[in-house]
Amino acid sequence: MGYLSKFLGISAAVLLLSASVVGAEEKDPLKTRVPADQLADAKANKNPIASSPESIAKGKALYEGKGTCFNCHGKNGDGQGEAGKILNPSPRDFTNCKFHKKRKDGELLWIIKNGSAGTGMVSLIPAAITEEEAWNIINYERSFCKGE
Ligand code: HEC
Repeated sequence: MGYLSKFLGISAAVLLLSASVVGAEEKDPLKTRVPADQLADAKANKNPIASSPESIAKGKALYEGKGTCFNCHGKNGDGQGEAGKILNPSPRDFTNCKFHKKRKDGELLWIIKNGSAGTGMVSLIPAAITEEEAWNIINYERSFCKGE
């Protein structure tokens, strides 16, 4: 191998490495993660807890507490928590209103329960939280969208 091709090979490897560590991005945030054969049921699974200041406060305490969500999704919900920064794909950015419009609460619950295959989002019900706690957290996650 000539000097130039060796140099180019090394540069490409360095670029690829830095892209996977630093440049991680969300993967298709608008595309549902629920498998097609379970999507209708997931969408029909309604949040039994209406969004209210009380539910949102409960959800915040769980998100920043035993749910451990903030480690990856960030305290401000942007997906850039300490552990989230090194994940590829990146954790969901909950400040993205377009994402919220595309998803029913039941689809979010499905992911919190089953995880998103092949990503850092693992199943957290019942490992960390109960289903009822997850519905409160979902109300809190929705509140990160401030605009339209
Ligand atoms: C170890 C890191 C990590 C932790 C902890 C974590 N998440 Fe995630 N989460 C992710 C990643 C990564 C994704 C993106 C998965 C993908 O792109 O499919 C994600 C995606 C999501 C989504 C989006 C699902 C969708 O439909 O696109 C929801 C909702 C979610 N997480 C909720 C939570 C909740 C609630 C908690 C805490 C109880 C939590 N996550 C904790 C890493 C994490």
